[in-house]
Amino acid sequence: MLDLIHSTKTHDEDRQGEALALPSTVEGSNGRKLYIESYGCQMNFSDSEIVASILLDKGFETTKDYKEADVIFINTCSIRENAEQRVRNRLKEFESAKAKNPGMIVGVLGCMAERLKSKFLEEEKLVDVVVGPDAYRDLPNLIEKVDDGSKAVNVLLSREETYADINPVRLNTNGISAFISIMRGCDNMCSFCVVPFTRGRERSRDTHSIVREARELYNAGYKEVTLLGQNVDSYKYTPEVPEGEESLPTVNFAQLLSLVAEVSPDLRVRFSTSHPKDITNEVLYTMARYENICNYIHLPVQSGNSRVLELMNRTYDREWYKERVDAIRRIIPECGISTDVITGFCTETEEEHQETLSMMEYVKYDFAYMFAYSERPGTLAAKRYEDDIPEEIKKRRLTEVVNLQREHSLYRLQHFVGKVHKVLIEGFSKRSDKDYCGRNDQNTMVVFPVDERYKVGDYVYVLGQSCTSATLIGKIVD
Ligand code: SAH
Ligand code: SF4
Ligand code: F3S
Repeated sequence: MLDLIHSTKTHDEDRQGEALALPSTVEGSNGRKLYIESYGCQMNFSDSEIVASILLDKGFETTKDYKEADVIFINTCSIRENAEQRVRNRLKEFESAKAKNPGMIVGVLGCMAERLKSKFLEEEKLVDVVVGPDAYRDLPNLIEKVDDGSKAVNVLLSREETYADINPVRLNTNGISAFISIMRGCDNMCSFCVVPFTRGRERSRDTHSIVREARELYNAGYKEVTLLGQNVDSYKYTPEVPEGEESLPTVNFAQLLSLVAEVSPDLRVRFSTSHPKDITNEVLYTMARYENICNYIHLPVQSGNSRVLELMNRTYDREWYKERVDAIRRIIPECGISTDVITGFCTETEEEHQETLSMMEYVKYDFAYMFAYSERPGTLAAKRYEDDIPEEIKKRRLTEVVNLQREHSLYRLQHFVGKVHKVLIEGFSKRSDKDYCGRNDQNTMVVFPVDERYKVGDYVYVLGQSCTSATLIGKIVD
């Protein structure tokens, strides 16, 4: 795994599968146990909470041990070839469990299900059910079909489905931070990307249901919400007009942000991902206006070269991107900025790769997710361009990008030393229960000794005393 540098990941597609389970038994059980493992971006993890909600309603319980499950779901990612390979390897591991318990149902959900459709059933014999991201309401019905002895597939994409009315079951939560899906799909058609094919058309979720979810989370003790979408800045929702009533204005992302920020000044608001072509000054001014909207923007650049950006169909160029960064620095001087980079995209020359490095020098990102280009079947790039950069060159360029990013992360963290940061205590540090951990406004992980006066979920002020390239180390100050 090459994205080494950060600790809290909002869209880490290479994230290892994680089992999600509720801590205790639920009333009204049908006696069957569900095991869900999720891969890919945070949206997949968020979808797994919707899937759990749909099945818990039908009396399922969740388990963290796939060996004791009656239904195993694997929520999959297609973004790069290795993401798919990981899922296939994992499916192999389920084989022996299924051999011991022939009644066990194995289902593939998410982006790989959507990409491969019923082909999955031919390729992986142990799979009983294949369900795309817009078809989760159909799961109880599909499980019934499998119970009756057939295989089941539903990979229909929808133009409307946002699961707005489904209350996600918060799985494996720290009770402090939660994700709220605000839109689904993507209309951007970046030439390297499989998401528009696996997730369908872009649609925004009802504003009221988003604000309601944020309020409910806050009332349940949560202190931080992250609004999720592939391209949050193009959020746009026009409320339906009841008979005889006047129409209400369309809500854009900046307005949604302020509505969520208004839920409480004690509720931190984050969001991901911003597309450089869409992030507006209105969004930046809204961030500057509310103390509780965190000063952190994930702004994937992909490449620093305008010709490559054009081939990628990103619809902005180097100058546009730099101007957006300048605007962020001007309007929110303390803002953390992170990015995604792809190395070795079709026809990328050495000089063009250097422009990615010089863009990194220009911005000095706090953090980056970095990838070697992986051709995905069916995408525009796969159809139009030859994947002509040899693997070892892609990897060498990637190493250069990773090394430079490590320097920049260290540079950013060193600037946090000697300053006081408002930190939301998220839990105990991974290394020791004598330390708390939490993030500052800029999304950097901060570790500091436990102070009995404060508990998980409290805000504290922490003086940065030292750092690595990934973590700020400090102590609470009053
Ligand atoms: N919606 C987000 C990105 C979602 S995918 C955006 O537009 O920025 C997350 C990241 O995976 C992308 O930003 C890109 O850097 C990377 N990625 C997507 N397709 C890829 C491919 N075919 N090969 C390598 N990296 C890819
Ligand atoms: Fe993929 Fe581009 Fe959409 Fe992001 S904006 S999900 S990279 S098509
Ligand atoms: Fe992967 Fe699908 Fe997310 S392809 S990155 S899980 S939208």
